[in-house]
Amino acid sequence: MSTTAFPDRPRVDAREKVLGTAVYAADVAVPGLLHAMQVPATIAKGRVTSVPIDAAMRVPGVLRVLTADDFPPPVAPPSAGGPPPPPPTITAEIAYRGQPVALVVAETLEAAIEGAEAIHPRYAPAADFTVLPDEKGAVREEVEPTTSGNAERAMAGVTTRHKAEYISPPQHHNPIEMLSTTAVWANGLLTVYEGTQSAGNVKGSLVRGLRLTPEQVVVKSPQVGGGFGQKGAAQRQTALVARAAMLIGRPVKLVVPRGQIFHNATFRPENRHHIEIGADASGRMIAVRYDAAQQQSRRGTFPPEYHEAVPMMYGIPHYHGTATNIRIDTQNPGYMRAPTPHPSCFAFESAVDELAAKLGIDPVAFRLRHRATRDPIHDKPLSSCLLHECLTEGARRFRWERRTPAPGSMRLADGTQVGFGVACGAYPASTHPNVVKLRVSADGTTRFTASSHEMGQGIRSTIEQVLVRHLAIDPARLEIVIGDTAVGPQHTTAGSWGTASVVPVAEQAAARFNAAMAELLAGRKPGGNLHRQLASVRRPSLEVEVSRVAPGQGAKELATFRQGGMAIGGPDYPEFTSYSYIAHFVEVHVEPRTRRIRVPRVVSIADCGRVISPRTAESQVRGGVVWGISAALREKTEVDPRYGGWLNNDLADYVVAVNADIGEIDVGFIDRPDPLLNVLGAKGLGEVAMVGCAGAVANAIYHATGKRLRELPFRVEQLL
Ligand code: MOS
Repeated sequence: MSTTAFPDRPRVDAREKVLGTAVYAADVAVPGLLHAMQVPATIAKGRVTSVPIDAAMRVPGVLRVLTADDFPPPVAPPSAGGPPPPPPTITAEIAYRGQPVALVVAETLEAAIEGAEAIHPRYAPAADFTVLPDEKGAVREEVEPTTSGNAERAMAGVTTRHKAEYISPPQHHNPIEMLSTTAVWANGLLTVYEGTQSAGNVKGSLVRGLRLTPEQVVVKSPQVGGGFGQKGAAQRQTALVARAAMLIGRPVKLVVPRGQIFHNATFRPENRHHIEIGADASGRMIAVRYDAAQQQSRRGTFPPEYHEAVPMMYGIPHYHGTATNIRIDTQNPGYMRAPTPHPSCFAFESAVDELAAKLGIDPVAFRLRHRATRDPIHDKPLSSCLLHECLTEGARRFRWERRTPAPGSMRLADGTQVGFGVACGAYPASTHPNVVKLRVSADGTTRFTASSHEMGQGIRSTIEQVLVRHLAIDPARLEIVIGDTAVGPQHTTAGSWGTASVVPVAEQAAARFNAAMAELLAGRKPGGNLHRQLASVRRPSLEVEVSRVAPGQGAKELATFRQGGMAIGGPDYPEFTSYSYIAHFVEVHVEPRTRRIRVPRVVSIADCGRVISPRTAESQVRGGVVWGISAALREKTEVDPRYGGWLNNDLADYVVAVNADIGEIDVGFIDRPDPLLNVLGAKGLGEVAMVGCAGAVANAIYHATGKRLRELPFRVEQLL
């Protein structure tokens, strides 16, 4: 167990990013590169009957137009736990507006755009389509409930209860790095450069969908300019671009315009939460009934896991949660930052605040009456839960004691209403198997290869922290190769399991290396760092390979991973359950005339186990809080009920929080290692950072104004 905190060190990639020299997928220079553009469907549902291409082919520079006929027939989706599904291709069947109908490939980007504009497919539209949940034509499908104890019986015996509905809208991820694919087909080898959270998944999908062998596909994703779940699988355009490169025999690149990303990438579906909480005579929550429902595509598989976080926070013994998909005609929803815990904790933590108000108990004190030590759903101990510590430290830093309890009781001199709100969050601490190689050379270089992806979160910096703590190497010449199927299997880096999956195995690799070095030296004691020691015994380099699986996993999961499958461990491990936690404290100001809501101050304290890289951890939490504020006050994608698709499909109309929306954000960590999860005691951080933040904003608005807002995002008109 790691007993000492890690020091603050600069990010390893800070300099190259500031200088603009970091190379992202779309920056890769490839000679003879062609450019592509997609043609989006203009119907909401139906079939393409023909794609006239003559006008496009007359555009100077256009080489080829790919349509449904250019793709092998689809292969059956694999069984659960098997290889990744085949990638989307072009099909004649149109399931949603904006789905690609054709791909135009040209010598220049301008010609590709002009060619795509010249294509007007003919359609046989379906008689009817459904784009909003709960309309005629939607199909409701309930999944397995999440249960502990007997919520119905317990609810009958409570003394105080609160019941309400909370709503979170459709939202789209908008990483600054656009979706893009560059594909090179040469000598029977397909090399794909794509900003992805899962080079392994992209490879496996292409192998299946394009009928290739694993030896024929390499996927490289050294830097990702934000993933957030949008880039967790082969993207809508991946196989189109790869197929084009194979058919034409020249490299092809597509950068998907943002308007098309809104229609073709996955998104956070609209979701609704009917919550009832009951408290006993001592003022403790003992029963929860919670029905969640989400918008879903006709065949989508994004699971409505709205009960994964809430039961892990307060040790409420009686819980009954249901979850329903409402299937309509849209593109597939998918994982988007803190996918289900963000909306479920907004809803639940608002409900907790409402119940505390009903009981007349301070909302921090009310939460502190509950402490979770067990996972009630799987009946296992929690490996660690320091939510109390987050709450007490947060309240201290925020100066919560300055809050006067009555809503509307705090004002600035100009009449601005002031509110203090608190809310908490939890997020699963999953981990994934990993295979790493560590090579130190006499020439002064060190190379570490692993499964992981750098998405801006700073995972290379966490790896460096561990390696330089244990190895006498030159950190300036340490190369960390990740996101590359050429160096080893690559798991999906998502669900906040990246750090906890790679740093323990990096630590093991360092220990193994030092042991191998001692054996090599056989009692000799040459001076200097490891590079000099290798040089003095005339050994060019020394390499070790180490693999690691999650607690409870073994050879089977490692083999699954080596063959390109997913093998996620946790958060319910055989002996325990692991979650990360956070408490957010938010101050809002509501301007008296315009009712404009501002968030001048946030304090967020996280329990992510041991903090590995203080600097990148802090920026993860700051980013999560910014997104929480953005979700609370700004983000909503508007459905077009007339034609299907989305109306505000750009960053001018899909409004996100900007600098002017963000005030002071004070971030803190409990920084106590989890005793069970791994040798470093690291849990996960990226997503829990956002969870609960929107609830804290809601609770602060209630405290400022006396008005309870239950539908995200909160806009001026809701306070008029
Ligand atoms: Mo996670 S949904 O990959 O941010």
